[in-house]
Amino acid sequence: MSIVTAKEMLIEAAENKYAVGAFNITDLVQMEAVFEAAVDKKAPLIIQTSVTPSKFLRRDVLVAIYKTLAESAPIPVALHLDHCTDVEYCKRCADFGYTNIMIDASKQPFEENIRQTKEVVDYCHSLGGASVEGELGTVSGVEDQVKVAEDEAALANPEQSVEFVERTGVDLFAPAIGTAHGVYKTKNPKVDFERLGAINQLLNNQWLKTPLVVHGGTGLSDEYIKRLIEMGGAKFNVSTELKHTLIDTTYDYISANREKYDPGKIDIAVKDAIRQVVGRWIDTLGSAGKA
Ligand code: 13P
Repeated sequence: MSIVTAKEMLIEAAENKYAVGAFNITDLVQMEAVFEAAVDKKAPLIIQTSVTPSKFLRRDVLVAIYKTLAESAPIPVALHLDHCTDVEYCKRCADFGYTNIMIDASKQPFEENIRQTKEVVDYCHSLGGASVEGELGTVSGVEDQVKVAEDEAALANPEQSVEFVERTGVDLFAPAIGTAHGVYKTKNPKVDFERLGAINQLLNNQWLKTPLVVHGGTGLSDEYIKRLIEMGGAKFNVSTELKHTLIDTTYDYISANREKYDPGKIDIAVKDAIRQVVGRWIDTLGSAGKA
């Protein structure tokens, strides 16, 4: 077992110009599939849940399953709480064993975002072992309870990014750069690669201390992903693609086997499909063999 903080894992990735996949799961079958794919590829891994699954699966049950799988997985792994807008809930998840917490106060005014993010950072750091991700600017689309309309999305300002990171002490920083949650409407979405590069330069030019996070992984082309890694992207969040894989595979299986009542077979089909998706991501991110 090697449960590490996401920060340690991502500094290593950014220094060596690859990135780590952070995969959002909503059930045990998906969690197992993601683990299996990462172990198969010998890749470091971040498992994520947003807030709703952490409630309906129960965060204590989820953490227990995660720890059991992590114990037998010979790769570095972290468990991340994604896009939590509630400071107290962030703290409780850290208490329960999430190793990385994202406080998403990005819809708040700048000073309030700093205040809430710093409160979570101070708490998690006092526990030892838990790192924190903060966001500046807003990522459009829907991710669980966080919804941002396209015309409301605002990109992160590079100078403000430095101020945000310095005043909050966040371990990982997610600047909005034009990527979006959900399915992109065009093949070439407008992503501000240079902005990510400028932020990385300002934050990490002396030594690598604040790895950068790219939200909205689903639908990004391999070319975009490689450019984003070049610019400093170290953690790539992937959620929608896994949800679609789960639902489409289940639908296809049931459509082809309407007379069979064997739920285990659906799980096997879903697991295979998710393993393939995650394996492809790991190859594209360059994290295969880095565990
Ligand atoms: P996608 O749903 O577009 O893959 O984005 C995931 C994400 O950024 C979760 O934080």
